[in-house]
This record gives sequence, C-alpha cells and structure tokens, in this order.
Amino acid sequence: MRGTVGGHPVHVRTRCGNNGGMSDSPALLADPHLVFDPVAGDGPKDVVVLGSTGSIGTQAIDLVLRNPDRFRVTGLSANGGRVGLLAEQARRLRVRTVAVAREDVVPALREALSGEYGSAEPLPEIIAGPEAATQLAASDSHTVLNGITGSIGLAPTLAALEAGRTLALANKESLIVGGPLVKALAKPGQIIPVDSEHAALFQCLAAGTRADVRKLVVTASGGPFRGRTKEQLAQVSVEEALAHPTWAMGPVITINSATLVNKGLEVIEAHLLYDIPFSRIEVVVHPQSYVHSMVEFTDGSTLAQATPPDMRGPIAVGLGWPERVPDAAPAFDWSKASTWEFFPLDNEAFPSVNLARHVGELAGTAPAVFNAANEECVEAFRKGALPFNGIMETVTRVVEEHGTPHAGTSLTVADVLEAETWARTRARELAAQTAEARA
Ligand SMILES: NC(=O)c1ccc[n+]([C@@H]2O[C@H](COP(=O)([O-])OP(=O)(O)OC[C@H]3O[C@@H](n4cnc5c(N)ncnc54)[C@H](OP(=O)(O)O)[C@@H]3O)[C@@H](O)[C@H]2O)c1
Repeated sequence: MRGTVGGHPVHVRTRCGNNGGMSDSPALLADPHLVFDPVAGDGPKDVVVLGSTGSIGTQAIDLVLRNPDRFRVTGLSANGGRVGLLAEQARRLRVRTVAVAREDVVPALREALSGEYGSAEPLPEIIAGPEAATQLAASDSHTVLNGITGSIGLAPTLAALEAGRTLALANKESLIVGGPLVKALAKPGQIIPVDSEHAALFQCLAAGTRADVRKLVVTASGGPFRGRTKEQLAQVSVEEALAHPTWAMGPVITINSATLVNKGLEVIEAHLLYDIPFSRIEVVVHPQSYVHSMVEFTDGSTLAQATPPDMRGPIAVGLGWPERVPDAAPAFDWSKASTWEFFPLDNEAFPSVNLARHVGELAGTAPAVFNAANEECVEAFRKGALPFNGIMETVTRVVEEHGTPHAGTSLTVADVLEAETWARTRARELAAQTAEARA
C-alpha cells in the first residue's frame, strides 16, 4: 500500500508478507501486522523526542545512545524546567533543534548550551513557546516519540500524524482526550504504543488474527495501596502515593497509578487502539508487574508478554518495530525462583476504572473531561487541598455535571479544549470548596 501523508511518500507494508488477518476488517489504530515506513532507507532512523527530560524521554535517550547504528535523535523538546539536562542531552546527541514550551527559560538554555558546546561549535537551533513541541513534531524525522505528560500532548500527536511520521505514543492522554481526532488522521500502522500494557497487547496481537481475539486482559500492579479498603485510603499521604512499588515514573502517572486512574485511562486507550468493546477488556491485578498484559484468543489460549519492569523494553518496541532491539532491557533470570500472582480488582476501593469505562462508552468530550478534572485533582491532592479519596469523588462530580455533550458527533479540537477548560475550572472550584471545608 503506497500513499502520501503531509506531502511525504509513505509505504505501508504487511509484516512477514501476510496481514495475519488483523487487517481484513477496517484498520486498527495500532496494528502489529502493518509497518508504516515514512522514509524507508538505510542507516539510523531519525527520531524526535518530545518530553526528553522526563522519565520516558531519558530512558529513550539511553536506548538511542546505546544503539547509534539504529537511531539518531534530531530534535528534543521539553517544558523548560530542566535546562541543564536538556543542554547536556543536546550535546550528547548532537541534535539539530531544541524546543522549549517556556519562553522565559531561553536565555538560561542558551547559556547552558554554550557551556556544553564551548565556543568552537555552533549551537543547535532553539524554538520556544507553547507551540514549540507541535512545530518540532512536524519537522523532518522518521519517528516522533511523544513522551510529554498530560493532554497538552494532543497538538504534537496530531502534528506528527499529519506530517506523516511514525508516532511512538507514550502520551496516552492525547489519545484519550482526542480519540476521534487521532483516528481521523492516523494511517494504518502509523501509531505504535509505548505504554507498557499496550505495547504488550500489540506484541501478543501479532500472534493471531483479529477474529481470533476473545478479550484483552490489562494488568495492573495495584499501586502502593493495593489491598486497602476505601476507609483506609481516606488518610493516605502524598509521599505514600508517590512511592510506586514497581515502576519509577513521573509524578502525575505515579499518583494516577495509586488511584488506578492510570488503569482506567489505559482501558480507554486499549479500546481506541485495538477497537475492542469495553465489555471485552478486563483488568487484573498483578503486583509483580512482570506480565504487562495478555490477549485471550477464542480457542481458550492466553498469550502474555512478560519482562522485568523496565520501560526501555516498550520504548524499544515503539522506536524499533518491526525489528527488536537487542538488549533493550534486562530479561528474566529463570534459574531463580519467583512468584507471579493475579488478583481481581477491588472496584469499590478503586472506582476509577469503572468511571473510565463509563466515560469511554459515552465518548464525545466525556473522556477529555475525566482526564482534565483528574489532572487538576491530582495537583490539588499534591498541594494538600484534596484528600486521596477526594480525587475520584471530585472527578466523578465533574463528569456527572458535564453530561454527554458531543457524544455521537464528530469532535473538533475546539470542542476538546472547551470541555477541558470547563472541567479544569469546575474541578478547581470543587477542590477549593473541599479545602475550605477541611480547614
Ligand atoms: N514514566 C513511565 O514509565 C510511563 C509509562 C507509561 C506511559 N507513560 C506516559 O508517558 C508520558 C510521560 O510520562 P513521564 O512519566 O515520562 O512524565 P515526566 O517524567 O513528568 O516527564 C514529562 C516530560 O514532558 C515535558 N513537558 C511538559 N510539558 C511540556 C510542554 N508543554 N511541551 C513540551 N514538553 C513538555 C517535561 O519537561 P520538563 O522536564 O521541562 O518539565 C518532561 O520532559 C505520560 O503521558 C505518561 O502517562 C509514562
């Protein structure tokens, strides 16, 4: 299959010479049987890393630096909170462009780059401002890794798709808030999920046909509060919520793992990527985080993808697919005994997954409202304004008040932004009322 995206020639081919049946029906957003090649050629793939100073970004850069024959980073983007690290990354990777969202940090960034490069070498181009990541996402490259945190990642996601880049997607929020927009732009095989659960599902789905899939089983570590009752959760602190038992991640996703909102977002993400109804997506608690998700096929077989928890594995799938990157992350040592446990989810203590299913079914702007309200409530919890259970109580109220505008209609970016702004304002108001009542 040949065509053009954003004026660039692209080549969509089937893996292993057949389509494994996944692609008989309308293409999936993420399809392991299809390879989207914006610029098939020899030499390393040009990669743009958005959110380069974060947890995903730094691990991606580690992988790139260990595989110079496979990948070359041409552009970096960050908010601007860690200019020293950004300048060091730019120098080590010899990038063309560095993008920062905060214009006020440009002098400090220039100084840090001068310190790194010395006077003999020209500095990379700097682009700055709220649109900088979006601009960089559309610049020349083979793959854009979106490792920005939050729904601010939507515009760069859309820009990368429109420009015809392969999109290695860690920023799940952009898919959740703008699902129909992403679906309308993405070509078959253009998105490769980086979230560990969806990268696992992607790899398991490669083993069968679409018609053979009975259900997706998304695993959850259960977070730091696994086994606690709703009453016990009422008193937990920010420090406890930030202490994830198996994964070292950025603060927002870590707190989202404690509330299990992250799992709820992932259920919506799985539904959008693999076009499986919510009723056939199950969540199971697996405290060790060895099995990253599973696919149950109609013959009763379940395929699981398993590695010790290390995001460099899924990042390598996102950047390297359909090839595997040797030694991307450590493998298991099978000479040592280990215990792998699975438990059902306690939906009463953690109502977030069911609420996510509900907003996912509503569609329209409901997922954007759920996500935006949650981002505000996480911030309020971190500042001590909301108790832990107050996060979900407030998000539930905002979702109820929003109702179902735009469900069943075609969504626009303006609809999403308007719904998000409303949800953020309403969540802040409700959180302030709670803080006042508790004072
Ligand atoms: N971490 C994980 O293991 C993991 C696993 C699965 C999925 N994910 C997903 O991956 C995404 C990133 O998570 P993370 O844990 O890596 O977050 P993080 O550590 O908080 O890093 C976020 C990155 O985004 C940058 N950023 C923030 N606002 C920006 C803007 N307006 N423009 C450009 N860059 C901006 C930050 O820059 P500054 O440093 O300048 O603030 C930082 O580089 C999230 O969507 C998360 O859900 C993460």
